[in-house]
Amino acid sequence: MLTQPDSLLKYIEDASGLRLPDGHFIDGGFRAPRAGRSMQSEDPGRGEAFADFARGDADDVADAVASSRRAFNAVWRRTPPAERGRILARTADLIRRNTERLAIAECLDSGKPIAEARGDVSGAARTFEYYAGACDKLEGHVFPLPSEYVGYSQFEPVGVTAHIIPWNFPISTAARGMAPALAAGCTVVAKPAEQTPFTALLLAELLVEAGLPAGVCNVVTGTGIEVGAPLVAHTGIDHVTFTGSVATGTSVMHACAENVTRSVMELGGKSPVVVLNDCDFDSTLSNVAGAIFEHAGQICSAGSRLVIEAGIHDRFVEALGKKASSISLGHGLRSPGMGPVNSALQRDKIIGFLDRARERGAEFVCGGHASTDPETGKGYFVEPTIVADRPADDELVQEEIFGPVLTVQKADDAEHALHLANCTRFGLVAGVFTGNFSRAHQLARDIDAGQVYINEYFAGGVEVPFGGNKQSGFGREKGLEGLKSYCKVKSIAARIG
Ligand code: NAI
Ligand code: MG
Repeated sequence: MLTQPDSLLKYIEDASGLRLPDGHFIDGGFRAPRAGRSMQSEDPGRGEAFADFARGDADDVADAVASSRRAFNAVWRRTPPAERGRILARTADLIRRNTERLAIAECLDSGKPIAEARGDVSGAARTFEYYAGACDKLEGHVFPLPSEYVGYSQFEPVGVTAHIIPWNFPISTAARGMAPALAAGCTVVAKPAEQTPFTALLLAELLVEAGLPAGVCNVVTGTGIEVGAPLVAHTGIDHVTFTGSVATGTSVMHACAENVTRSVMELGGKSPVVVLNDCDFDSTLSNVAGAIFEHAGQICSAGSRLVIEAGIHDRFVEALGKKASSISLGHGLRSPGMGPVNSALQRDKIIGFLDRARERGAEFVCGGHASTDPETGKGYFVEPTIVADRPADDELVQEEIFGPVLTVQKADDAEHALHLANCTRFGLVAGVFTGNFSRAHQLARDIDAGQVYINEYFAGGVEVPFGGNKQSGFGREKGLEGLKSYCKVKSIAARIG
């Protein structure tokens, strides 16, 4: 049964009403790619291409970087901080006013359910609003030197910043990097993922509508090899913010090393959700399900390992299996319980993990197979999957699957749970569910992760810094901490006699 109004469902057949751009966004407007090539974006909900976009190359990257450099030197670094703030605040308003168009574009491009897409758009608006208020509060220090000296520091914008954006949270990740960069006085060249090019382009257009001068924010679309690689290797780039896989992040770090370019690396995760015997059963159950099945598990901070104390294990895992099995699959515009994964490649990668686990004798609590949209028989879906207790060295415990697959790890007690929580090479986030306040904070202290959620997974907002430890990366985004990546500290000391 259809639960959505026809006004939304019409986009499943024909997205032309969204007027999606087919050029790069360079120097304040849409521009055809130099080589005149294009490529197509798929709607993973039905496994079909639905729109063309520009397939850029190193020449387009050079144009964008030159444009950002001109705009940095001539305009943006000299724009008063309060004026930068007004432009970012107007951008937040414009994002909110364009919620439906942005959310539908995001839903078709990435596959995520429309409600999740609307949430991401609202989060992007909030990110611009937050950093709008920070532009004129970047205060330096005065240093306590002897009285014949004066010493102070000031923040300067780093310069031209590159942003490599993944396909799982296109508008959120674009906003998370662009807003603080622009707030600090930097200019931007963004490269969205080739699976999800559109919302970054639309965001750049809204920024200009809000008053952002031409060239301050440029967007070049295309593949990682043809656009991403020349962008991060460009000598005109002063900083790279990368979000994506560890493997690609490593190659980006090599490119940055060549030019001694600063970087923030937001890489993968294999985040534990620690559930102790004394947790609140029902709320923990829905949190654990949300942590892995939201956006079909394609979240760097997904809670993909359930580390659960023995006393509650059987009852909890059984209830979780029932809950997972009841999640409906469908095209994102039909408001399903869970949408598709992003591509056939991603689906096959996930199924590969599950087939290998089956061969090793793993037991499936539920799911375990590829699927399709029951309305159409099309699209790239994977059933919500839970795999029963696996040893710490199992591939399903150690590797980021990036799909709706939860691996259970049974713990003897809280101490053993801590040991299991820390057993991977990742350290992005962790969840802790317990009624024992001291125990919760002991675990928060001892788990090696950039952030720990207690009794609500994904708690927090743009105010709270976010980033990884170990192979999950380095540097922090969000919060005032996130602004520092885009600032250079200059110290000035003078003898005044
Ligand atoms: P990826 O890391 O290759 O892609 C992320 C971004 O990097 C895209 O915009 C891509 O075009 C760009 N890129 C690719 N090669 C590049 C290069 N040499 N230089 C500069 N930019 C480059 O991720 P991919 O292949 O799309 O997904 C593979 C796996 O990565 C997923 O299965 C998942 O495990 C992980 N991943 C993790 C994400 C996270 O948020 N932590 C996001 C996306 C993927
Ligand atoms: Mg797509």
